[in-house]
Amino acid sequence: MKGDAHGPTGSPSSFLLDDAARRGARYLAGLEARSVRAAPAAVADLARLETPLNDGPVDPAVVLAELDEVVSPATMAMAGPRFFGFVIGGALPAALAANWLATAWDQNAALGPVTPGVSRIEAVALRWLLDVLGLPPQSQGAFVTGATMANFTALAAARHAVLLRAGWDVEGDGLFGAPPVTVIVGAEAHPTLLKALGLLGLGRRRVVRLPVDRQGRVRADALPQLNDSTIVCLQAGNINTGAFDPFEEICDAARAAGAWVHVDGAFGLWAQASPRLAPLSRGVEKADSWATDAHKWLNVPYDCGLAFVREPGALPAAMAITAEYLPSPGAERSPSDFTPELSRRARGVEVWAALRSLGRSGLAELFERNCRQARRFADGLAAAGFEILNDVVLNQVLVSFGEPAVTQRVIAAVQADGTCWCGGTVWQGRTAMRISVCSWATRDEDVERSLAAILRAAAGSRSSAVRDG
Ligand SMILES: Cc1ncc(COP(=O)(O)O)c(C=O)c1O
Repeated sequence: MKGDAHGPTGSPSSFLLDDAARRGARYLAGLEARSVRAAPAAVADLARLETPLNDGPVDPAVVLAELDEVVSPATMAMAGPRFFGFVIGGALPAALAANWLATAWDQNAALGPVTPGVSRIEAVALRWLLDVLGLPPQSQGAFVTGATMANFTALAAARHAVLLRAGWDVEGDGLFGAPPVTVIVGAEAHPTLLKALGLLGLGRRRVVRLPVDRQGRVRADALPQLNDSTIVCLQAGNINTGAFDPFEEICDAARAAGAWVHVDGAFGLWAQASPRLAPLSRGVEKADSWATDAHKWLNVPYDCGLAFVREPGALPAAMAITAEYLPSPGAERSPSDFTPELSRRARGVEVWAALRSLGRSGLAELFERNCRQARRFADGLAAAGFEILNDVVLNQVLVSFGEPAVTQRVIAAVQADGTCWCGGTVWQGRTAMRISVCSWATRDEDVERSLAAILRAAAGSRSSAVRDG
């Protein structure tokens, strides 16, 4: 029997939640067999959603069934093992299940005294993160929506600190008439870092751009004179090559000059969690603030990013507010003292679950396995005669199949084939296909299957080029 979708108190009946869990599990199990990209017929079927809003209520069980029937097939299989686009990652079972449970709790995770359970678990997760990422233990942190907001949040603390040194209260008085701040970024900084600078009034364009090498690493020898009103933005993991900036050298120079170093480590910061990979990010712990994502390589569900700031007090100085109706701080940490938002969901719950379920060894295994799998892609493609454009030091591979138009055709063919999904890019003038390996679900057999599909697509595109030419 289907049962009533409402429980006795008006809460969802267990039938409805069981039904959601059943449908979710069926969806995940089905990812193995289906095309990674949404089938064109499923996308066309989305037209069924284009109805006027109904006048009266609809049974929640029907609502859920409609969602599943119409929208599930039109999703991209990002949760599956063969999605290699952008830098995405799936959702670890413990993190996904914790997310569902926390959604049932529906906590507004702003204020420690009001929501002690989730506030405490976020505090614990932050302590574990500082430990596993090798960052200074006194650092303070925030759970935000992603690396864009993590950059924003950490750089708000940086802005506070450098202007305070110059005797300026930026939170109170804004930037009008403020002492100048010099912001230095690498020429290959991620555009969201520049967006964060723009949102903070520091300017997307009003930055000093450092030249980079062939892998996108900033050149330490090009560092201009620094002083205590300088913010230097470095990167752990270039979106295209996976390369790391020279932290040790630049952080030492910045420390001597009193400058602030911020690191955008959206995925690369996780190298710190593996003894084998940690040499790549050597010296990163000497920075003053860091941004990373949990929804990328830690494999928690969207959305979840993390900001950390070494100097205790700088983050709350930029973020905390008070109001008569809000409870005064208690013993329990209030997440909203550290975040741009007041009301927010408890993102730390699934981070805690991911860390707890993997442990130190599971984290290292995940990151090392994905890097090994990226290497296998690169070796397989190179052996077939295709050019790998980057040094595959982490989990990113850039491959050229020849002329830009040929590479574009291969990318389109790979996507249409549906065995796996890879996107494109232009790296320092060269058109390339990007392979980004960052899912817990990717097994070695998925890599072999995907490699075979890519080679098939390349062979097909080459022969069509010969026919066309
Ligand atoms: C280096 C870097 N910084 C920032 C971002 C933006 O992250 P998000 O989309 O989570 O805001 C990305 C995304 O891939 C990235 O690779």
